[in-house]
Amino acid sequence: MKMTEKCLEINENLKIILERRSITFFDKTKEIEDELLIKIVELASLAPSSYNLQPWEVIIVKSKENKKKLREICFNQEKVEDASANIVVIANYKRAINNIERVLDDFKSKGYPISVNKSIIENFYTNNAKMRAVRDASLFAMNLMLIARFFNLETHPMEGFNEKLLREFLNIEDYKEIPLIIAIGYKDLTKELLPQGIRFPFSDFGKII
Ligand SMILES: Cc1cc2nc3c(=O)[nH]c(=O)nc-3n(C[C@H](O)[C@H](O)[C@H](O)COP(=O)(O)O)c2cc1C
Repeated sequence: MKMTEKCLEINENLKIILERRSITFFDKTKEIEDELLIKIVELASLAPSSYNLQPWEVIIVKSKENKKKLREICFNQEKVEDASANIVVIANYKRAINNIERVLDDFKSKGYPISVNKSIIENFYTNNAKMRAVRDASLFAMNLMLIARFFNLETHPMEGFNEKLLREFLNIEDYKEIPLIIAIGYKDLTKELLPQGIRFPFSDFGKII
């Protein structure tokens, strides 16, 4: 048996990734305590980000009434209302810039050899700031979807929403980006998903040089 196959077989933790799916059927009867939602979001914040500036924000849409409204905004996707909650992931580059001082102070207090100052980081970040913020917020979002599975929760990422209506509903300013919404909840065990969609082999998309 090859080493990679052996690792896959013995590493239970890989199940978190191997068995993750975008869940279409959530158990409508189940709620998630606010405390657990907050825990999952905080654990997701362990994701890496450029200079550790953590440009993400979330708005968790959980009440029945708000989920109903969000479902309309998400082109009537049923899972939005069936899920226990929906986490709107926002990329706010201004938040990253505002965090520079706190992050630098933290680095210094921990003995990091810092060769840059606030204005150097600010200049660097400001060049293509929205892209940097969206990239980091997306890493955060992926982390969140995997962490949810450690709590027996499932997720569904969504970009199918009317952005203008979503901004109006949640008062999200234009300078912020909204990479995705993550529906989160417990799987409806009475329903089966179709098999997972194709994934392409390394030779299709990668090379080793
Ligand atoms: C950023 C993003 C946006 C997505 N938006 C939607 C969506 O609006 N509606 C939907 O049904 N699926 C959506 N998906 C789910 C994908 O279709 C799904 O991840 C893909 O088919 C692979 O399936 P799997 O996650 O079960 O492996 C989205 C996925 C991502 C990453």
